[in-house]
Formats: sequence, C-alpha cells, structure tokens
Amino acid sequence: MDVKDKLAVITGSASGLGKAFANRLLESGAMVCLSDVNEAIGNATAEEFSDKFGKEKVTFVKCNVLDKDDIEALYSEAERYFGHSVDIFCNNAGVNHVRGWRLCMDINIMSVMECTEYVIDKMDIRRGGKGGLIVNTASMAGIVNGDIPEAACYYASKHGVVALTRSLGTDVFLKESGVRVQCICPSFVDTNILADASKDQLTFIKNKFGLMTPEFVAEGFLKLVAECDNGTALCILDKVPPVVYSDMSATRIFVLSVGAIMFNKIFGTDLFLPRHQMIFVFSLFILAQLLLYFLISILF
Ligand SMILES: NC(=O)c1ccc[n+]([C@@H]2O[C@H](COP(=O)([O-])OP(=O)(O)OC[C@H]3O[C@@H](n4cnc5c(N)ncnc54)[C@H](O)[C@@H]3O)[C@@H](O)[C@H]2O)c1
Repeated sequence: MDVKDKLAVITGSASGLGKAFANRLLESGAMVCLSDVNEAIGNATAEEFSDKFGKEKVTFVKCNVLDKDDIEALYSEAERYFGHSVDIFCNNAGVNHVRGWRLCMDINIMSVMECTEYVIDKMDIRRGGKGGLIVNTASMAGIVNGDIPEAACYYASKHGVVALTRSLGTDVFLKESGVRVQCICPSFVDTNILADASKDQLTFIKNKFGLMTPEFVAEGFLKLVAECDNGTALCILDKVPPVVYSDMSATRIFVLSVGAIMFNKIFGTDLFLPRHQMIFVFSLFILAQLLLYFLISILF
C-alpha cells in the first residue's frame, strides 16, 4: 500500500514504537491520528509532529483501549478531524507483565480483539466501508516461548495477537470484507516498556539479543505496510533485514502425521515422540539425497 495521503490511527503512540511508526508514516506523506491513555505525553508528541509536518497532518485523541466508548470516539474523531476515512488502524498499545496478568491480557489481547472487531465493522465493504488495513504490534514473544514464568501472560497475549492476525489475514476474508490484517514482531526495543527491567536484565538483553531503536523497527513497519502481503507476520531483529515469518504449522503437522503412521506401521509405536520425529526427518533427508543422486546419474 502506498501510504501517501492515507489516514492512519495508532493506539499507544504517545511514545516508543507507536511514536516512531507515526513519524515514519508522516515522513512518507500519510496523515496520522495519534492516541494514548497518557494525554500529556500524547499532546506533546502531537505538538512536536505538528511543528515538523503541519497541523493538517497530525492530531491526538486520548483513548484508553480498555474502554469501548473511547475506541469508538477515537475512530470517529480521527475521521472528523481529517475529513477522510481511516485507511490504516494500528493496534499498538501494550504493557508488560509487571502490573499483573489480567491487565496484561486485557490490554495486549482483549482490547486488540475489541478494536479489531470494531474497526472491521467500520471498514467492511459489505457494510458500506471502503476496506483498509489493520496492523497489530505483536512481538518476538508472539513467535517464540519465554522461560520467565512471571512473563508468561505477555508471551500468551502476543501469541494471541499473531494467531488473530493470521486467522483474519486470509484471502477469503479479504475478498469478503476488503480488510487486510498484518502484524509486526520486534525483538527487544529501547522503550519505556523495559523501564521495569533491572540493570542486569538489560545488560543480558543487550548482549544476547541486542536492543533496537524504535526508528530501526519503524523502517520494518513501513516495509510491512508498503510491501508485504495480507496476513504477514514480520519479525524485526537487531542488525538483521526484516524476516517474513511464514506459518508452516499445517505443513509440519501433515508431514509429522505421515511419520506417525509410518512409525506405527513399521515399529508399532503408538506415540510419535520427538526422537521418532528426528529419525523420520533424518530418513527423509537421506531419501531425498539418494533420489537426487539417482536422478543426476540417469541424466548425465
Ligand atoms: N519495547 C519492546 O521491547 C517491544 C518488543 C516487541 C513488542 N513491543 C510492543 O510494542 C508496543 C508498544 O510498546 P513500546 O515498546 O513502544 O512501549 P511504550 O511503553 O513506550 O509504549 C506503549 C504505549 O502504550 C500506552 N498505553 C498503555 N496502556 C494503554 C491503554 N490502556 N490505552 C492506550 N494506551 C495505552 C502507553 O501510555 C505508552 O505510550 C506494545 O504492544 C509492546 O508490547 C515492544
């Protein structure tokens, strides 16, 4: 999608990643409605961007994503201010696990679901909408699993965001509704969400994964919106070009099912364990090598 003259709404965009996404969209000629539960920082960010890009390009609307009335008011106020329908809606607001699992799940997945349902209703071509794009800020925590028990809710919430994105970001749904859905999955980024991490934790993160700037992630965000397909989950890792993370789970379960049947028939195993799977995959690899060798020998 060419973002020039498109209207984007971004939740949780007073600071951090949301602010960087807004800046990148504005630089590319889009109009942006910033929003956040933090009104003071949101207004300051809007002022900063108004000075840089012009008042007609940016505004701020206070919105707590936990409040359905706020979500509805945000959407209609954005359209009223710009006199334009919303083209891109970014579910970006998020929190870490520190204030408890319920709040983490409520903000990171339940409100994303709530906003998504509302936005689809507004954009749906079957209900008179013009179609559009929903971009969810997931995380690498939505792709991999963590080993910090107290942060399990964060991983669960972000896995939910990736699953929601993939379940809606299908050709069938796009054809019916005109709505595309994508998500961005960054690794660790230097933002306020890490403010609760200890010095040691931050050093560990920096050494093991690297700590990206929001601006670096925003480059990937623009690539996602401008160049990637419907349903894409785009992983952003430090010093690495963005990686489209394809969903191979259906193919994988199909191949493993074949293995389970073969092992059952040959060895009588009634439980296909990881070690059986390793042997099966290794055997497939050897078989492929033998086939290749056979083909080469008859061709040359
Ligand atoms: N920083 C990272 O390492 C990282 C990595 C991957 C994904 N993410 C995700 O990126 C998104 C943005 O986080 P960030 O890293 O920029 O942190 P951040 O704390 O700078 O930004 C989050 C913003 O969300 C706002 N917010 C919180 N609760 C809200 C609510 N109920 N309603 C509206 N706004 C609310 C905050 O006020 C804040 O401005 C989150 O979804 C986060 O999970 C962050």
